[in-house]
Amino acid sequence: MQQQIAPTDGSRLSGQRRTSAHAISEGRPYFDAAEMAGHGHATTGRTTAWGNDPLDSCRREIDFVRRSYLGLDTHPVVVASAIEAIEVHRSLHWSSARTRLKFDLLGELEELLSEIFSARVLAFSSGMLANLGAMPILATGQLTGGTKPVVVFDQSAHISLTYHKPMVADETRVETIAHNDIDALERLCRKTPVVAYVCDGVYPMGGYSPIRELRQLQERYGLFLYIDDGHGISILGRQGEGFARSQIPQVLGNRTIIAASLAKGFGASGGVLMLGAADQEALFRRFSIPYAFSMPPNLAAIGAALGSCKIHRSAELGHRQRQLAQRIHLFDRRVATAEQGNSLPIRTITIGSKANAIAIARELLDCGFYTFVTSLPAVGQGKAGIRVCITAEHAIRDIERLCDSILHTVAETTGKPYPLR
Ligand SMILES: Cc1ncc(COP(=O)(O)O)c(C=O)c1O
Repeated sequence: MQQQIAPTDGSRLSGQRRTSAHAISEGRPYFDAAEMAGHGHATTGRTTAWGNDPLDSCRREIDFVRRSYLGLDTHPVVVASAIEAIEVHRSLHWSSARTRLKFDLLGELEELLSEIFSARVLAFSSGMLANLGAMPILATGQLTGGTKPVVVFDQSAHISLTYHKPMVADETRVETIAHNDIDALERLCRKTPVVAYVCDGVYPMGGYSPIRELRQLQERYGLFLYIDDGHGISILGRQGEGFARSQIPQVLGNRTIIAASLAKGFGASGGVLMLGAADQEALFRRFSIPYAFSMPPNLAAIGAALGSCKIHRSAELGHRQRQLAQRIHLFDRRVATAEQGNSLPIRTITIGSKANAIAIARELLDCGFYTFVTSLPAVGQGKAGIRVCITAEHAIRDIERLCDSILHTVAETTGKPYPLR
């Protein structure tokens, strides 16, 4: 089985770097150091309180870590709606599978989400669990006319997808290809009767999948697409359909599933699967493991998501999307990154050495900006960097100050001007 899940691009690294033993030995000293330094406590708006002291005595930083790209996580409608849902039902969670007993509000939420995403939407308590339920079903061949597909993972697909490779490999052949390697995917499609490709729509470390090219392979070879677009929903599309869904015509069809977390741009909590066929919906409602047992979203999550749906169906969504676009553009005018010019809110300042990336993040913290270090296994060896998540709620002036601080701090720390060559 180990043989089957080795990457096909010849690199041993991606096969090794995702093992838990490697992740623990590599990550332990950094976690120790980070815990000593303290952590961020969320406060209001886009600020965090930083440190191990009581909240009142912690210093404040501008938060560029949170993924609430439209700032909906603290929106009064989302918060009030979560509270109201609990007050109405006088409960947070019923300890029962929803196949036996469920809150009416959950049905209401799935209907609203189905309208927003033009799909048959099933809600889960997290994006992670939505993927956990889907991967084994994909491997059975039930989604591909009864023939087990060769399941091909993008090397950079999110851990909530790749974690399931061994389970998928118990049922069928698994391949891993280099990031966005459409040629490798096409070669597999040519040689294999049924192929399913698993990828992110928008990658959390920056970048995105070439949806148009993937759809061409789908038309040519019947390729099945499973796209996790948690970082793409809400920020694009008239109703926030997202990066992937808005590039696929009205009907999703029976060869595409889009998964998403509701805990990022959507501003609530939970996860969804967008399906295009009634038989697939029935299959997931019966056989997706996290659909059963006591794992539906809880009432606060359902309420928050209902509140966010209201915003998605109002003019405010477009307003927030435009605010976000303006801030991304402003950042791009000042700091060059590999993502420069795309309309997505994730920017990575590539530094190279992990020690330098950590030193720069520390320095930025002293300047009042909470950013994030990216390193193995999330990015390749020697490609450590600083990740910045821009949101619609950041003040223009704070983005300008962050950009100036990045340019200054990188030059001070590395002795070279940014971008580093
Ligand atoms: C691409 C992607 N998929 C899935 C998840 C998991 O989503 P959730 O936090 O809702 O479990 C994440 C979370 O970081 C993610 O980035």
